[in-house]
Amino acid sequence: MSTNTAALRVEGVTVSFGGLRALNDVYFEIGRHEVVGLIGPNGAGKTTLFNALCGLVQPDHGTFFLDGKESAFPRTDNLVDLGIARTLQGVGLFGDLTVLENVMIGAQHLAQTGLISAALARNGKDENRIRERSRIALERVYAGGLAERRADTLSYPDTKRVAIARALVSEPSILMLDEPAGGLGTQDIEWMNLLIRNLSAQMSVLLVEHHMDVVMSVCSKLYVLNFGEVISSGSAETVRRDPAVIAAYLGTGA
Ligand SMILES: Nc1ncnc2c1ncn2[C@@H]1O[C@H](COP(=O)(O)OP(=O)(O)O)[C@@H](O)[C@H]1O
Ligand SMILES: [Mg+2]
Repeated sequence: MSTNTAALRVEGVTVSFGGLRALNDVYFEIGRHEVVGLIGPNGAGKTTLFNALCGLVQPDHGTFFLDGKESAFPRTDNLVDLGIARTLQGVGLFGDLTVLENVMIGAQHLAQTGLISAALARNGKDENRIRERSRIALERVYAGGLAERRADTLSYPDTKRVAIARALVSEPSILMLDEPAGGLGTQDIEWMNLLIRNLSAQMSVLLVEHHMDVVMSVCSKLYVLNFGEVISSGSAETVRRDPAVIAAYLGTGA
């Protein structure tokens, strides 16, 4: 397969909720090791597209390609097999468990989806394996030192890192993050961008973000959605100067 084949590509994605067309004929692709941002005003369809890419929404129309090969849109139960992992907005940690246990619970889910066989997961040997993978995932977000901390003692920025560690346990080739910088201050946003850039050495990353500035520095390519359609795409500079984008953001006061 040629090296310029996109890791993930979709064409003609249309999603309706009753009479409302949330996405209309959307084209989108992520290259290997690329960090791609999906931005747009509130209600633009960002979460709907994210959900379609991770199996939470089934499109009415559209084509899905992984590594250039057409396949059905993902379902939540085959995401791991497809090499896709995601974090979701507002999914919390169990406060009375340790950070490591929280990441391991993410891995238990892998046992259920077959990546780690359910039979093996019942014996101690496999628990050790899950523990080891979870520790590695924490190291990759520079949170190895937090492993034994109770989750409810973490700072907010640290909970965001742990949520990413949970997604990394399945060793994805495509990582999808819904508003990873949401609620973070300037310094923590820079830190998060650095972390994402480092992760992209091993995988492709898709970021969904409401605020354009947050993703400008970390993404090599941006797609801008408005009213369910891609109104602009390209480098941060291209998108920032695009009159259609300026109008869309001014129109909502964002
Ligand atoms: N489950 C749903 N049922 C009905 N309408 C929905 C649903 N999810 C999203 N929508 C509508 O679809 C449009 C796009 O929403 P969404 O994808 O959440 O936008 P964004 O994430 O960009 O803010 C909005 O008009 C929203 O109200
Ligand atoms: Mg959203």
